[in-house]
Amino acid sequence: MSVGVRPVVRKLQNWDAKASVRVKPRRMLLDEEAIGRVYFSPELVPIAQHPEVVALGPEAVRAMQVQHLYRYLDFTTQLELEVVNSACRDIALGKIRAAFPDVMREDAFKLCTDEAHHAYFSDDMKRQVAGATGIRPAELETPRFLERLRALQDELPIGLRPMAELLFTVVSETLISSILCQIPKDKRVVSAVRHIVADHAEDEGRHSAYFAQLFGYLWPQLSAYEQALLGPQLPHYVLAFLSPDHAAIRRSLESLPLERPAIERIIGQTYPTPKVLASARAAALVTIRLFEYHGLMDKHQFRDEFSRLRLL
Ligand SMILES: [Fe+2]
Ligand SMILES: [Fe+2]
Repeated sequence: MSVGVRPVVRKLQNWDAKASVRVKPRRMLLDEEAIGRVYFSPELVPIAQHPEVVALGPEAVRAMQVQHLYRYLDFTTQLELEVVNSACRDIALGKIRAAFPDVMREDAFKLCTDEAHHAYFSDDMKRQVAGATGIRPAELETPRFLERLRALQDELPIGLRPMAELLFTVVSETLISSILCQIPKDKRVVSAVRHIVADHAEDEGRHSAYFAQLFGYLWPQLSAYEQALLGPQLPHYVLAFLSPDHAAIRRSLESLPLERPAIERIIGQTYPTPKVLASARAAALVTIRLFEYHGLMDKHQFRDEFSRLRLL
């Protein structure tokens, strides 16, 4: 298949001089709780602000902030190793049934390296924080986004499932996460956590440009049949990625002296659907514009599904 004459712009130029795996040190946790710093931006941990959690005292609030950090780090580790790296590997090895310019395949090796590094430093930080705080992380379980992605892939013919993984990667790499934007600037957060999030955000800025360009090559190469099956799944990928993981949050709350009805009440009151959808719409703005730019929203069956899920 020809990729035509569309000019390719190298998105991982000067990777050697910029990638965190090449130029950033290992981020070491210091004892900054002594000077009043916290492990996560308080506003980004809404369950720790719920009155029933606050009523349990500062130790409970701290535990929920630390557990939130663990969940974020686990999410990152699993996303990078289970999904993004398998999509990048398939691009690098030419296993995707679409033609990409050779520089994109070459850059996919760099993406694999970056993402493996993000998984590593996330796990490393979790171990450092657990050692410093004595707060034990919950066992690593399959996160909600991954269960959801696998269920969506099961709805597709076997041959299209790797393509679903690649499109999920396009979605996750072009969404703008509030954590990546806010934590690096929040001086209340311990510096090692701020630094790993900043390192990650810098790499992801380059990745986002790469995947936006890749989508422009990929989508027109899919047949009408493939587009008809995959297009309506796109908004589901957005929600799979951005919806709160109730089961994981429940496991964190279970470490507090709370009865089951209180736990369910806290989750329900903290994550009402309209609020979840409003923040999903904000985070997905760039991704949805990318789909618009490539004409997806001109097709009513795609637009309708985005509307039905209240993402427009
Ligand atoms: Fe990453
Ligand atoms: Fe990435």
